[in-house]
Order: sequence, then C-alpha cells, then structure tokens
Amino acid sequence: MSVKQMTKISKAQAIANQNKLLDLEAKYCSWGDTVHYAEKLNLFKSCKGSYLYDHEGQEYLDLQMWYSACNFGYRNKRLNTVLKKQIDVLPQLACQYLHAEKIQLAAKLAQKNERTFEEKGRVHFNVGGASALEDSLKLVRNHTGRSLVFAFMGGYHGRTLGASAITSSFRYRERFGHFGDRAMFVPYPYCFRCPYDKKKDFCDMYCLKQFEKLFETEYHAVVNKKNNKCEFVAFYAEAIQGTGGYIIPPVDYFSHLKEILDQYGILFIDDEIQMGFFRTGKFWAIEHFNITPDIIVFGKALTNGLNPISGVWAKEKLISPDVFPPGSTHATFSSNTLGTTVGLEVMKLIEESDFSTSVTKKGQYFVAQLKKLQKKYPQIGDVDGIGLALRMEMCAKDGYTPDRELTDKIVNLGLSGTLTTGGKRRGLILDVGGYYKNVFTIAPSFYITEKEIDLSIDLFEEALIKALKK
Ligand SMILES: Cc1ncc(COP(=O)(O)O)c(C=O)c1O
Repeated sequence: MSVKQMTKISKAQAIANQNKLLDLEAKYCSWGDTVHYAEKLNLFKSCKGSYLYDHEGQEYLDLQMWYSACNFGYRNKRLNTVLKKQIDVLPQLACQYLHAEKIQLAAKLAQKNERTFEEKGRVHFNVGGASALEDSLKLVRNHTGRSLVFAFMGGYHGRTLGASAITSSFRYRERFGHFGDRAMFVPYPYCFRCPYDKKKDFCDMYCLKQFEKLFETEYHAVVNKKNNKCEFVAFYAEAIQGTGGYIIPPVDYFSHLKEILDQYGILFIDDEIQMGFFRTGKFWAIEHFNITPDIIVFGKALTNGLNPISGVWAKEKLISPDVFPPGSTHATFSSNTLGTTVGLEVMKLIEESDFSTSVTKKGQYFVAQLKKLQKKYPQIGDVDGIGLALRMEMCAKDGYTPDRELTDKIVNLGLSGTLTTGGKRRGLILDVGGYYKNVFTIAPSFYITEKEIDLSIDLFEEALIKALKK
C-alpha cells in the first residue's frame, strides 16, 4: 500500500489495526529476539530511500538502515527490478543444482579479491551472517585440526552457538550452558576508552605489545615454544567494530597484529558482515589496513536486505576441493536464486558507481556536522567516522562518563515519532552499540542527501534537547 493510500484510512482505524496486531504479537511471537528491548514497539508498513513509514503514514528518517544491510537505500529500484524479473524466471532451485547468477556472483567476489589481495580463492554461500561464520569455523578447524581461536573484546559475530562462542558478550552465552571452545578475548584498540588507560598519541600501541607478550613463554598459556605452535589457530576480527560501537583502530594496528600472527601460523579471519560492501568507503573495511585476510565472511548488504545471501571467501589452500570436498557444509537456501541475482546486481552497481568517493565525501560532511553539534553539547563525548560508518558517544557533562540513560531517552524520542523540526512530525531511527550502550552507530543509506544529513542533525539536536530536559 502506498503512503498516499494509507492516508485515506482514518487515523483512528490505523491505530485500532495496529493495536490488534500488537495484542497478537504479545501472545504469539517469541520475545527471544531483540524487539522487546524497546520501550514502545514500532510497527512499520512501508519504506523508501532513507525513510520508514508507520501505519499512520508518518515518516521516520533511518540512520541505521537495518544494521547496514540496506546500504543502497530502501526499495532500491534497480535491485528490486532484477528481483521481480527473477521471480518470473527462476525463483526457486534446489541449491544442489547450478544457476548462472550463483557462478557469476562467486566469480565477481573471488576476482575482486584476486585484484585487491593478489590471492586466489573461492566463495561458499550461505544465508545469514552467523551461518557463514559457522562455515568459516569449519574451514579453520578443517585446515588446522584445532578449534580454539582468538577474538576481540567488543567483537560481535552472531548468535548461533559457534558464533556466540567467539562473540565477546557473556550475556549471549549465559543461559546456554558451557562453551568449551569459547574464544580467548583480546582487548581491541578502543583508543577513546583505552583498556590500559593509555593515551593514543603516546602509547606506542601498548595493547599490541601486551598481546605479543602472550607468546614470550609457554607459561603464558598459548604457545609451545619448542615448536612455536599456538593452541589458538585463528584470530577473528572486525576491522571496524560494528556492534562494539563503530570503533576505528589506529591505521598501523592490523599490520603489526598480522606480523605477530604470521610468526605462529595463526589465520586471520575478517568478519565483514556489517562493514563490507563500501560501508567504510572501501569494498572491505580491512582494505584500509593493508593486510590480506585468510578468510573473509560477508552477508547483510550483499543483497541490500532482500533475499539474504551470506558467504565466505577463503584462500585456495583452505577451500580447494581437495581439502574442502563436496558435502563439507550445506544449507537448503544457501545460494537461492533470488538472493544471488540481487547480489550480482549489487556487484554490478558497485562496479558502475564510485562509492569510494561518494561514501567518503558524505561521511566527511556528516562527521563535520556531528562535530559542530559536539562543540555545543559537552554530552557528546566522541565523534568519529570512516566512510558512512559513524559514531557518536553520549556521556555525562564531563564528556567521558558513558550515559546510557541519555542515549536511551534519545532513541525513544526518535522512535516516538514526535519530533517536529522543519514544521512536520517525524521520527528518527537510531541504533545503539558500544561497550556501555552509549554509542550511536550511524549507518545511513549511501544515497542520503546533504539535505537529509542536515535534517538528521536537526532531528537529533531536537531529541537531545528534549532528553536533557526530561
Ligand atoms: C560483524 C557481524 N558479524 C556477524 C553478524 C551476524 O549476522 P546475522 O545477524 O546475519 O547472523 C553481525 C550482525 O549484526 C555482525 O554485525
């Protein structure tokens, strides 16, 4: 139903319809997902570009775009068109058979990595991010014969059992028993809140030195100094932490980390599920750091949130048919025809666009506006960004003590749809991440306009002022 048609339904009727649905939801939907984190539940009816629309036809400017799954805007015409076409040609096919788009998409991704990293490799598809993550764990175990890995504090890799074992939050594991292969979690270079209380300009990457110390003697519990073999066979990393709060590490961090890992034959697994496909202004976020991963895991924006496709790219030595033979892993919907068709079109769209310039430019403009706001409000402790992955930390007046309450108030004001900047009632969709749940992780559509960025700032400021008065 279009927004115009929606306005024809009376407001009272729209509210009554919505309340009926919410009653059913309360009774029949599991509350085990993240819906009930919210104070007030929001039900949306349509979307376009950077906006979501609720049952009353009211618009909400979206600054999170389905946790960066819809990089190319809601209802992107080009991507929707290829999906609709495929629905009339080959909408279903068991994934044990081949179709052109699967092969072409795998080839495009592998060839992209061949150009970027000068490495031959192959692609294996799955459906969701965590499922692809599981496949990467299988590749690691298959190659090394062992299962223990390093991962970062603040890292998020999904909520299946394997992904939960390498995701830092104990909260996600607590009710599910013993995780014998839980990762060894290493502090991430979160310089605004350095885990070692150092100052970035003078620290000489102290955190890396601490990591390196683990390998000094067998008594630090990770390495056999007689043969230099490490008990931990891979390091899982998000180059820019997503759920952890869009944290950007020092530019030399990963190359130095990789030098340490290489000495002990430890694989580097790059989780690009949230930051891949130009969110940071480069195809993969890891490209900012000049290293070659052994495996890349991707998902989300590959299909712009349409029929999901996730996957892994791995170096040939890890995934060639002689080491990873038929049947090594499988999922019914893994290379579904609708998803691969959209994924292929996303790759073509990327090839034909210059997101490296446009995303970087828009990100710089957005950060500049956020920094102006930061000057006015001491409660905005940190503002940073890379491409269109932007962060803003909400704090007490000292600009440092995390203020989760203020953050939540702003989120709820945005979701309430009662902001009035510009003389129109609107909502603002913000996502919160960070170690203290006080960071706005901002991931707008790549097609967001300068005018919409200005509107975002005005709406945010209105919500902040109201939250401070509350
Ligand atoms: C970096 C990262 N890895 C893995 C996942 C899990 O992906 P999914 O929710 O599709 O299983 C996410 C989801 O937010 C993510 O951000």
